[in-house]
Amino acid sequence: MTRAIRIHRYGGPEELVFEEVPDSPPRVGEVRIRHRAIGVNFTDTHARRGDYAESRALERPAVIGMEGMGVVEALGAGVTRFAVGDRVAYAARPLGSYCEARNFPADACVKVPEGIADEVVAASLLKGMTVEYLIRRVHTVQPGEVVVFHAAAGGVGSIAGQWLKALGAQAVGIVGAADKVELARANGYAQVFVHGRDDWPARVRELTGGAGVNAVYDSVGRDTWEASLACLAPRGSMICFGSSSGAVPPVSLNQLREKSLVLTWTKLGDFTANVAELDACAAAFFAVLASGAVRPRVQKKFALAQAADAHRFIESRATQGSLVLIP
Ligand SMILES: NC(=O)c1ccc[n+]([C@@H]2O[C@H](COP(=O)([O-])OP(=O)(O)OC[C@H]3O[C@@H](n4cnc5c(N)ncnc54)[C@H](OP(=O)(O)O)[C@@H]3O)[C@@H](O)[C@H]2O)c1
Repeated sequence: MTRAIRIHRYGGPEELVFEEVPDSPPRVGEVRIRHRAIGVNFTDTHARRGDYAESRALERPAVIGMEGMGVVEALGAGVTRFAVGDRVAYAARPLGSYCEARNFPADACVKVPEGIADEVVAASLLKGMTVEYLIRRVHTVQPGEVVVFHAAAGGVGSIAGQWLKALGAQAVGIVGAADKVELARANGYAQVFVHGRDDWPARVRELTGGAGVNAVYDSVGRDTWEASLACLAPRGSMICFGSSSGAVPPVSLNQLREKSLVLTWTKLGDFTANVAELDACAAAFFAVLASGAVRPRVQKKFALAQAADAHRFIESRATQGSLVLIP
């Protein structure tokens, strides 16, 4: 048996139950990982609530969680990518990282380089790989370019600000409260505006001489959608990658026609879809960590059994950095 956090029903943080679950040996192509640290991501709250089709399809009771790191303690048949004792990490489906130990597809894991602490890996692999595909592949940010990034003090946003600065971009961060401005600036954002206080689309147009920006990275969704569109230059890209405030209501194509905009809703799993893509994505992130350009902040650690508190914390918009669970 191993101990895990499972949901029996979709709902609030109180549905996260700490309990014993049966163990099994790794199957073909899997490794067994003993977790040392587990990443907490906003997406875990969507899974807990059953917000998206893929989480509504979970067979319950289900262990949730998309990110973990630990040590390989057994190999399933056919696994040559890793050896017992390797330090590995993952940020992918199938869900189930909120546990002491689990089996996971070897091809969806990456080897953790020496010199990166366990908690830092668990706090940043999913968020860092997300930033990698967003700023290097969905829209390739150029030195000097002005781009807008939402939730600039949060987990993904903190890493994005630092990476964008390292690329030489002029990142504009949007935050939900004035007490996050200082941290967002420290994260590398050249300008930081407060949603609900500042007329940030007007300020973004001012900053760009009236032109607007080529890309807005919006993970907030419903509350910021309209204003994000207003920040864009003609032919700009509206890059939706989250819905922390709720889903964007159905969109009319005419809204895009006005400025010939490009609209996309992207997911990490579709940008790390095979071993080569996954390894390249993780390697790029590990390289910015090794260079010191990106320093993820572990804001808070919770015992695995306290996962519900971690969910309350992230849902209350209190994150200024990353959260981890320690099994
Ligand atoms: N598509 C992908 O590939 C992918 C991968 C990773 C993460 N994501 C998404 O990226 C976003 C950030 O993830 P994260 O794990 O780093 O979380 P996070 O940024 O630490 O926390 C979410 C942030 O969203 C903002 N927010 C705005 N309205 C909110 C509301 N009504 N309730 C709660 N939060 C609200 C808050 O920042 P402010 O108070 O500053 O507004 C909050 O701190 C999430 O939407 C997540 O689902 C997407």
